[in-house]
Amino acid sequence: MNLETVTTGACFAEVGHDVMCVDNDAKKIETLRRGEIPIYEPGLADLVAQNVAAGRLSFTTSTAEGVDHGDVVFIAVPTPPNPDGSVDLKFIEKVAREIAPCLKGYKVVVDKSTVPVKTGEKVAETILRYAPEAEFDVVSNPEFLREGSAVADLMKPDRIVFGSNSDRASALMKKVYEPFVAPLLVTDINSAELIKHAANSFLALKISYINAISEICEASDADVELVAEGIGMDARIGRSFLNAGLGYGGSCFPKDIAAFIAISEQLGTPFDLLKEVQKINRRQLDRFVERVRKALWVLGEKRIAVWGLTFKPNTDDLRCSVALDLVERLVAEGAEVVAYDPKGMERAADLPVGPKIRLAASPEEAALGAEALIVATEWPEFARVDFRRVRESMLSPLLFDGRNLLDPATMRKHGFEYHGIGRGRER
Ligand code: UGA
Repeated sequence: MNLETVTTGACFAEVGHDVMCVDNDAKKIETLRRGEIPIYEPGLADLVAQNVAAGRLSFTTSTAEGVDHGDVVFIAVPTPPNPDGSVDLKFIEKVAREIAPCLKGYKVVVDKSTVPVKTGEKVAETILRYAPEAEFDVVSNPEFLREGSAVADLMKPDRIVFGSNSDRASALMKKVYEPFVAPLLVTDINSAELIKHAANSFLALKISYINAISEICEASDADVELVAEGIGMDARIGRSFLNAGLGYGGSCFPKDIAAFIAISEQLGTPFDLLKEVQKINRRQLDRFVERVRKALWVLGEKRIAVWGLTFKPNTDDLRCSVALDLVERLVAEGAEVVAYDPKGMERAADLPVGPKIRLAASPEEAALGAEALIVATEWPEFARVDFRRVRESMLSPLLFDGRNLLDPATMRKHGFEYHGIGRGRER
């Protein structure tokens, strides 16, 4: 059971629905039944506990019990990537097969996983193949929640989108979402599926766009933060997702952009713009490592402090984290990395790179004796440390701010040689 499933289940329960979450992993279900949440997500543990106590949220390993429980059955299984970037849909196919014989009476089967366009058609075909008599409609309901703010994103969404080709299914879906106050867009199934990939790739495009501008800013001695502010003030553009940095990571953008490229090629309409988005994203890290290398000349045997390992703040998720990629690159060049992350260290210790780095108990401890300090994830608490003390404890005052979290002038006042992203030569 992933973040989406638990959060969606808990939020549906919170607004009064009677929800049963199903997973075939008995250990996970046991953990949830004990009230433990296997991931760090602000507000989720309380929400689950309250709704379990209120009798509106329960957990089971039985597909039959789960399907029987609801009029609406949400599928939210993982959709991992194949080596070529396309989506491996085996879990969706398996669930469709498994729920087919359990469908008694009319049900709406909702696909909430991120899938390539036309997957809904395949789900419907599969169910019909295994249960020709079943009475059901398939609906696509893309999810727009972000890790770190999943509960708020679900309780107060910008919009709710579902794609349905049946009035009966649409009526039931409207009842499910009635308690949520948000604009509703009802489309056909294929359009809803496309909306998810198009939304995520557009956001990634925005990030790569500002990252490409950051490179131009560095070459022209301009400040990307001011450029982002200036263009973001145009309501047609907007300031959000224009934060230049080490690039996007996480379990969604890298995978979804690759999947969108793959499906567009399969459809005979290649989306080459997105290949450029990927290229810019990779180049941000290359350029950054090059900058650190240039300052230190040789990375081997250098002690480097890295603040932040998770793919973004307010999560313990390390999947496709650019911060981790950075650490791996530094270690591969022989640097001695001492890292600190407020929530990601336990998981980091279990990764192959874990034993190759030292994990510190605090940001200050990580920086002790370091020849360079890198901010790789913009946890807000990093901006609140005593930088004068940190600088005094370091061997040399090199500061690389990979997320433009800190104020360059203040850092220089504290004695650092500050390097941000796209902040010109002096800023
Ligand atoms: C993303 C989308 O924002 C959600 O709307 C979507 O529902 C979700 O994927 C999904 O498909 O499930 P998420 O991956 O949790 O959410 O995180 P984001 O906040 O979008 O950040 C993704 C990456 O972009 C992070 O590495 C972050 O550091 C980076 N980023 C974000 C930037 O580099 N600059 C920005 O301005 C914003």
